[in-house]
Amino acid sequence: MKFIPLKNDGTLDLKAAQELCTRKTKILSVMHVSNVLGTINPVKELMALAHDRGALGIIDGAQSVPHLPVDVKELNCDFLFFSGHKLLGPSGIGVLYGKTKHLETMEPFLFGGDMIKEVSLTGASWNDVPWKFEAGTPNITGVIGLGAAIDYLSALGRDAVAQHGKELVGYARQELAKIPGIKLYGPEEGTAVVSFSIKSIPPHDVAALLDREGLAVRAGNHCAMPLLSKLGVPGTVRASFSVYNTPEDVDVLVAGIKKVQEVFRQ
Ligand SMILES: Cc1ncc(COP(=O)(O)O)c(C=O)c1O
Repeated sequence: MKFIPLKNDGTLDLKAAQELCTRKTKILSVMHVSNVLGTINPVKELMALAHDRGALGIIDGAQSVPHLPVDVKELNCDFLFFSGHKLLGPSGIGVLYGKTKHLETMEPFLFGGDMIKEVSLTGASWNDVPWKFEAGTPNITGVIGLGAAIDYLSALGRDAVAQHGKELVGYARQELAKIPGIKLYGPEEGTAVVSFSIKSIPPHDVAALLDREGLAVRAGNHCAMPLLSKLGVPGTVRASFSVYNTPEDVDVLVAGIKKVQEVFRQ
């Protein structure tokens, strides 16, 4: 495995990617939106790079599909996946998109009802895509819940959802930057999340005190230890936004941070 390095502003070093991805590369896998920095990665260009080298291109859409309009055909990815629970849907279910030509050549990895076409005591043949990969009784309630969540977001309008997220992140970055002792991470033009730290106050203390104000933020390494090492901090505080958040929530966050600083007498 080789890793595309990050530039200091939290964006991917695309020049390095060009050199790292060679004719020997089998898969280029990239997250669309960073769950720590909110960076929107240029996945369309990276898919083109993968294909230029004869590799498959895979996109982790866990943080992009809930917040941005995503068109798998336009991105020309071979596979893209996302989780239900980050999209206002149930947990334990997600979506894997794959180009039919790949899915048809892939072997199933789960065996059970519905994924076979014919079975005998000596062999079996697989059902068509997608049933080949849907072994056993499906997660019916999960599918219905996820479908409702997708319909809900689609009815709000994917562009409107993206615009709302962009405005909230822009406003949050602007207001947080005004507080002395705050350090913001990631590029200006991110989506959905804002990561920050407060001078001399451990992130988990910030989160615990904000919690008392009714503010749910996440603190720690956000399952991205190598990134945190690169940032040179053990953890950050992360505020994330969705369709139900408003600019007033940002004001409440700013007031909460000021209270935290008072507790620590900064
Ligand atoms: C970008 C990204 N990919 C994958 C995951 C994992 O998804 P899940 O919680 O469905 O395992 C997460 C968050 O947990 C994420 O932020």
